[in-house]
Amino acid sequence: VTLTVSTTGGNASSPLLYGIMFEDINNSGDGGIHGQLLRNNGFQGNSPDLTAYSSVGSGVTLSVDTANPLSTAITRSLKVTVASGTTGQVGFANAGYLGVPVNADTYANYFWVKGTYSGAVTLSLYGPSGTVYATKTITINSNSSAWSYYETTYTSTQSYESNNAWKLTFDASKVAGSALYFDLVQLFPVTYHQRYAPLNTHTIDVAANWGRYNGLRNDVATYLEQIKPSFLRFPGGNNLEGATPATRWKWNETIGPVHMRPGRQGDWGYPNTDALGLMEYMQWCIDMSMEPLLAVWSGLSLGGGIISGTALTPYVNDILNELEFLLGATTTTYGALRATYGRTDPYSLTYIEVGNEDNLSSGCATYASRFTAIYNAVHAKYPDLVIVASTSQASCLPSPLPTGVYTDTHHYSSPDQFVGMFNEWDNYPRSNGNGVLVGEYASTTGNDGSATYWSNMQGSCGEAVYMIGMERNSDVVKMASFAPLFEHYDMAEWSPDLFGVNSTVGSITGSTSFWVQYMFSTHRGTTILPVTSDTNFGPVYWVASSQSGGTYYAKLANYGSAAASVTVKFSGTGFSTAAQLTLLSGPQLTANYPGIVSITPQTSTVTGSSSAGYTFSIPAWGVAVLAVTA
Ligand code: AHR
Repeated sequence: VTLTVSTTGGNASSPLLYGIMFEDINNSGDGGIHGQLLRNNGFQGNSPDLTAYSSVGSGVTLSVDTANPLSTAITRSLKVTVASGTTGQVGFANAGYLGVPVNADTYANYFWVKGTYSGAVTLSLYGPSGTVYATKTITINSNSSAWSYYETTYTSTQSYESNNAWKLTFDASKVAGSALYFDLVQLFPVTYHQRYAPLNTHTIDVAANWGRYNGLRNDVATYLEQIKPSFLRFPGGNNLEGATPATRWKWNETIGPVHMRPGRQGDWGYPNTDALGLMEYMQWCIDMSMEPLLAVWSGLSLGGGIISGTALTPYVNDILNELEFLLGATTTTYGALRATYGRTDPYSLTYIEVGNEDNLSSGCATYASRFTAIYNAVHAKYPDLVIVASTSQASCLPSPLPTGVYTDTHHYSSPDQFVGMFNEWDNYPRSNGNGVLVGEYASTTGNDGSATYWSNMQGSCGEAVYMIGMERNSDVVKMASFAPLFEHYDMAEWSPDLFGVNSTVGSITGSTSFWVQYMFSTHRGTTILPVTSDTNFGPVYWVASSQSGGTYYAKLANYGSAAASVTVKFSGTGFSTAAQLTLLSGPQLTANYPGIVSITPQTSTVTGSSSAGYTFSIPAWGVAVLAVTA
């Protein structure tokens, strides 16, 4: 294959093309990217039990208590009953999300306690055989009439493999014949990212110059940051919608102090603490320089419960309240509320999406009217916001669609189907200003229909072909995100996901598709350039671009079973003789699996010139990016 890239002409490409989609699925939030490591700490969700807890010492009984609410939001607590005559150290343990990761790190520990106790409390991280890795003893004075709050830090000097746990113990003789209550135990390693004053008065964060209070897991966020995503679509996905309208994701229940967040039964079968809430999402965007793409509830719930017509008005108003919370001056009601939570400046927000997959769950028939009600209210007040419809199915959309509205398309398909969709956007109308979001896509099956566990080279190559098709049309395809993003891979309900982690040291694993995202996202041009070729597309596909600074890129995918020799020429002069080639390749059905990585991008130098070209080979099912400066 010989390609000649024109250094003039072409289309502007979307600077936001490669982003990420996040919802709490696969325990990717609680137990995943959120930094808090202890599970079931607020006994949230539909039917909380003692999941993750166990008693420490004899003479101790644990139960979930409802008679001593911590707050109006956290209404249950852990009752630790100590039998008469008990002595020694007793208490309770929490095994986290199938293990508490213990690394050479400093840990912040927060907890609430109620019940009469004056004396030492010991907090420890320990291993499966009971060996204590890090510990701290503090003195507390609690009483039975009100909850008392404590916080401390301690350090582990090294990392420990897996199956670790956390425990809190106290002097049994001081409680024997009675009980203590504990709530919202929280354990954070140093969190991502820049150090700053915390959202509230947690003095240890200021003093120790910690990461963000209630922040993201540093190792996970830092790994993700490699792909330099340019937007974050959140909080769903299905997890926005709720099983019923009443159990939808509610922005106003995810803000403020965590002990005032009730959490909810998430839509993926487990409780969400909502400690990763609206402000944390916005901070995540700031820290990774991503545009937020905020999904707002459109009246459709997963169980098919739909609110439409005049009944939708309170929900439309709620969206306006949410936007005022994010964008309003501190003189507004909700802008003032934001300021009380530590953020005076309005956030930057340009994109909102109305619902999720409103073509499904019987949503289609009413979506046009629901979308229009929300669009009219939001557009009237915030005319600069770009509003995204959650489906591209014309029969579900208002006709005509208002100018400037984007539509969202989702594809969960086989590798062949992705290749078949290479041209999907070639003839998309450009005249009406309706941009495209491909908000979710992934190769989820083999060509034979078999389920894909972790992305393999053929699937990732198929995605790359589709991505090349999107990039060629990125004057109109504005944003695209693989989904789902992330999994705790011992707690996942959906495969494949882009990357994963569990509680074992060094377990973060990027799939082959993660590396395709990395390669495409980190080599972005501002202009998509015309290319002439001596052959048609298939099995090799390509797109070329340039950055204003003078770097030229050719992205290629070889969706074929034989290696392909490729020469890339450029029409201009002044090109470096050394081009950088980044190559991802491996056998057709080979995947990276949790903790077992065989395929990562490899870089090498290709010598050539713009007129003679840069010649290299792309192995079967390989994905390549050539970068050369001029
Ligand atoms: O990405 C997983 C799910 O797929 C999303 O929650 C939903 O939008 C889609 O159906």
